[in-house]
Amino acid sequence: MNSTIRLLAFACAAVRTYAVAGPAEDFDRGYQLAESKGCFDCHALGYKDVGPSFRAIAQRYRFDPEHEDRLPYIIRGGSAGHWGERFVMWPQRRLSNQEVEQLVGWILSQ
Ligand code: HEC
Repeated sequence: MNSTIRLLAFACAAVRTYAVAGPAEDFDRGYQLAESKGCFDCHALGYKDVGPSFRAIAQRYRFDPEHEDRLPYIIRGGSAGHWGERFVMWPQRRLSNQEVEQLVGWILSQ
């Protein structure tokens, strides 16, 4: 009986740790990658800078699988005209497949 309770408590603690630490770590990793690749030169999370905020991008494409699939190519190839005519994003070439995928996943989870 006692050990069952202890086991349960342990399981709950484990779930809680995962629930808190998992996404937070993912967030940090994505954030650092975006920072190291210079994305924040033009993008911010919650407000419009030179480029649209990552939150606005997430809201727009999260439920649009077709565009979501194109985002890696768009980031690599550059973007213009999707958010008005004011600015263009030049091609972000120095990114591996894995880095682009990680960035897209991270942006869409904002
Ligand atoms: C020189 C400034 C600049 C930099 C650096 C930059 N962006 Fe952008 N980004 C923009 C602008 C401006 C737009 C909006 C372009 C448009 O209207 O289509 C944009 C749009 C986007 C979009 C939306 C594309 C679409 O189809 O709507 C994504 C996703 C994105 N950027 C990701 C990134 C990532 C990831 C990085 C870092 C690797 C990055 N950007 C670096 C300026 C920049």
